[in-house]
Order: sequence, then C-alpha cells, then structure tokens
Amino acid sequence: MTPLQLVDLAIEARERAYVPYSHFAVGAALLTGSGKVYRGCNIENSSFGATNCAERTAFFSAVYEGERDFTAIAVVGGPEGERVHELCPPCGICRQVMREFCGSGFRIYLSKGDGTYFEASLEEMLPFSFSQEDLSK
Ligand code: THU
Repeated sequence: MTPLQLVDLAIEARERAYVPYSHFAVGAALLTGSGKVYRGCNIENSSFGATNCAERTAFFSAVYEGERDFTAIAVVGGPEGERVHELCPPCGICRQVMREFCGSGFRIYLSKGDGTYFEASLEEMLPFSFSQEDLSK
C-alpha cells in the first residue's frame, strides 16, 4: 500500500461524510501492520460536540475489530460537494487518539488530491505529548 493509494481510499471514504452543519467533508484511511485498511468519515450531530471526526471513526472501527497495530493514516478534507483542494490537518483530539495507539514512527499523510502528499510523523504532529506512560510515573 503506497501513501497515494491510502490517500485515494481516504478520498473515497470522504464520500460517506455526514456533514449537515459544517458542510466540511473529511475522509480517513488507516493502515494496520498487517496491511488492512479501516476507513472513516466525519459524522456530525445537532449537538455539535457529539460530532466524530473521520480519523476517530477509522480508529474506533479498527479497535473494535481487535486491531492495535497501526502504521499510517491518510486524511483528506474540504467543502462538501467539492473536490479536495487544500490539506486538512488532524485536529488535536484526533492527534491524541493516534497517540493512544501509535508510536513516534506512525506516519500521517495529507493530500490536496492532486497526486502529491505531505507526510509527517506523529512525533512531529504532536510533540511533547501526554500518554499512558505518564500515568505510571
Ligand atoms: N474534522 C474531521 O473530521 N477531522 C479533523 O481532524 C478536523 C475536523 C471534521 C469535524 C467537523 O465535522 C468538520 O470537520 C468541521 O470541523
């Protein structure tokens, strides 16, 4: 699975976004160590705080299926009904969820949907992070 193949799967997942409030559709494709891909879209709620981001939809589906080993995620987003044309960086809550299950080597791919992608590690996206290790200090 190449980064751009993962990006394409995220672009497909974005089609399922439920975004009647923000009209901002996001898709994510999460790759496991064994090569499986779990996808997610954002799912909004009239009580806005109950909205679930695309990345967390993908993570929670995967964890429910018993997965704990993740290597990369692709994320794309933009106004509903338009092709993706800007990068969509993961929000802080999603970065923290990634930190729960992923180490510093986890890769995050963002794309404008133009056949190129931006790549960062979780360490770069969430430096000096809080994790379960801090609880046992
Ligand atoms: N959103 C995501 O799905 N992922 C992110 O990392 C950033 C924000 C969603 C949440 C909401 O449905 C919409 O984008 C606008 O904030």
